[in-house]
Amino acid sequence: MKIKALILILFLFTQNINRVFADEGMWLPLLLETLNQDEMQSMGFKLTAEDIYSINHGSMKDAVVLFGGGCTAEIVSDQGLILTNHHCGYGSIARHSSVDNDLLTDGFWAMSQEQELNNDGLTATILVRMEDVTAQVMKFIKDGMTEAERQAAIDEASKQIVADAVKGSHYEAKVKAFYYGNEFYLFVYEVFEDIRLVGAPPSSIGKFGGDTDNWVWPRHTGDFSVFRIYANKDNEPAKYSKDNVPYKPKYFFPISMQGIQEDDFTFVFGYPGTTQHYTLSDGVQQITEEENPVAVSLRRTRMDIMEKYMTMDDATRIQYASKIAGVANYWKKMMGESLGIRQWNGIERKTKQEEEFDKRVQTNPELKAKYGNLMAEFEKVYTEIRPFNAAFNYFFEGVWSIEAVKYAWNFNKYIAVCSQDPKSTEIPRLQEDLKKGIEGHFKSINYDIDRETCAAMLSELGGMGKDFLPPYYQTLKEEYKGDWNACANNIYENSYFTSKENCTEFLDMKAKKVKKAADDPMFKLASGIINLYITKIQPGQAKYESRLDSLYRIYVQGLAEVFPEERMWPDANSTLRVAYGKVKGYDATDAVHYTWYTTLAGVIEKEDPAIEDYYVDEKLEELYNTKDYGKYADSDGTMHVGFIATNHTTGGNSGSPVLNANGELIGINFDRVWQGTMSDLMFDPNKCRNISVDIRYVLFIIDKYAGAGHLVEEMKLIR
Ligand code: ARG
Ligand code: GLU
Repeated sequence: MKIKALILILFLFTQNINRVFADEGMWLPLLLETLNQDEMQSMGFKLTAEDIYSINHGSMKDAVVLFGGGCTAEIVSDQGLILTNHHCGYGSIARHSSVDNDLLTDGFWAMSQEQELNNDGLTATILVRMEDVTAQVMKFIKDGMTEAERQAAIDEASKQIVADAVKGSHYEAKVKAFYYGNEFYLFVYEVFEDIRLVGAPPSSIGKFGGDTDNWVWPRHTGDFSVFRIYANKDNEPAKYSKDNVPYKPKYFFPISMQGIQEDDFTFVFGYPGTTQHYTLSDGVQQITEEENPVAVSLRRTRMDIMEKYMTMDDATRIQYASKIAGVANYWKKMMGESLGIRQWNGIERKTKQEEEFDKRVQTNPELKAKYGNLMAEFEKVYTEIRPFNAAFNYFFEGVWSIEAVKYAWNFNKYIAVCSQDPKSTEIPRLQEDLKKGIEGHFKSINYDIDRETCAAMLSELGGMGKDFLPPYYQTLKEEYKGDWNACANNIYENSYFTSKENCTEFLDMKAKKVKKAADDPMFKLASGIINLYITKIQPGQAKYESRLDSLYRIYVQGLAEVFPEERMWPDANSTLRVAYGKVKGYDATDAVHYTWYTTLAGVIEKEDPAIEDYYVDEKLEELYNTKDYGKYADSDGTMHVGFIATNHTTGGNSGSPVLNANGELIGINFDRVWQGTMSDLMFDPNKCRNISVDIRYVLFIIDKYAGAGHLVEEMKLIR
């Protein structure tokens, strides 16, 4: 009996070793019909793949928007109205804010289209179509090509494919690699450039819980903002103009007012940025045990400095609000990721998968010929890349976070040209460009923060390893006897690149004097470290990364052969994907179960005048006290605020539409739960949950709280 049970357990275990769980995966809309439709329908989906992605008629894909470079949004009216997260609109909201007109704190609502605010540089990208172009690309690739030759061939193929795809249109196109370059897809886009801010709740709603609650469930954030896409009279993309009109979309999402239940089918349609779920145990180990802890600690140090100055002065608070949010976000994510992998024994699980792969390979001559050395090669490259990755991590998280270092480096070319040939005709243009940037640069920086950051980072850079630090670093260390504060004070006081006046003076200087002036301490520091990065860290990392890329290309191909029973999905790469699952609570830790939704009562419960993240304003409290929820209340009489589901999402999915079985909008995706943030590397179906704001809370805030009911009128509500 015992033996049988053991055999059964072993059998089940090996069977499941590489299994893609039903909820795991970010799928290509084009392939849903073949790969997913049956499963989706068996889970409750009432429509077809063609309703999600069609090139023959308007379909859901026409209503999903890549918002700016890194978020998703969805169209919810026939007048180009879009919803995304508050944290996705944050930069735009901050740019329209000042101490006297603080849209971040107070919120903003355009009561008519004339009041909507222009956002230079913000784009909304909509997919026109996608196509498998693997065969076309492969024609350019020959056996025996080096990795660089292969890449050049892919670039050449892509160029031709893209040129053909956009010929005679205003479209833009891209060819993207999937499965580490085993497959290629073409994406044709329409890119809109006139995107206006329509509405944003105050931060006390849109950022409720702030960084305290970030990446954590239970959550009560009204994380949404409202924008509108404008087009020219022909409904085509155009730069901002008063004459532009609201965009008429091919499709927009209807909004469900029926509410949600646990176990309901749900899917998320959006632009996930990056996942690395094929990463081997060695890679997962380096990321979660070596790189994340260093980055977390450097970020904490920077944030402490920013916070100190932000609480001292309101203008600084606004100036740095968006910056610190960015730093804080991944600071916390990396902690959660490392923790999740540890708690789930992620490295061991990966190791077991690799052992099973290798076992099957070694016992099959045909597979062995192709994949027999793979694991040994991986191990070698992972050992070789380690110091370069570590140095890069310090460089990126440490050096690159000092704004004056980055800024001084901008002058590199100018200084080089002036030094080599003070009569060069290039000089006036270079000078002009740099002058144009001065105003904006110095407006965005608080030099007390930057100077302290510089001192703190310099004191940590030893961790990079001697080989990757310039002699100038050592000189400074000796000169100041390790007192990096004194060192930074001195550098910032005596540099041309740390004040507007000095910088202007530098640019007004005669070209032949520039060479001598470039003996500037900040420039010397910047060019010393950055040159080492360019000549040593970057090439070393690139060399081994390209080796890893080609190994992963073979490995992923191998996985398909070695585990033919497994369904595979390509890592996220900022292309449009569908993730599907069910609305569901989860067991977080021993004895702790979380239910699947939160309500306004929880906002009031969290309220705490001592913690800024938990400030609740009077109007919202009054609506709660009078239970004035109107048609937005749940059938249980409460105001639902957020919910979780098993959809597999990642960064970039922020703002994505969360849809029900009928393709109606039920929420806006904005986060993942703490115990599941490791899902970029590994997906644990019992713990990985995406977090969404309930669409009824969004409408309640727009209508009842902000009095902007005209926006709700524009939408199509399904009762
Ligand atoms: N964690 C979510 C995401 O990755 C929300 C981030 C909002 N930013 C913040 N610092 N609270 O985008
Ligand atoms: N907040 C994330 C974003 O900006 C989404 C959360 C996640 O990474 O899953 O895309």
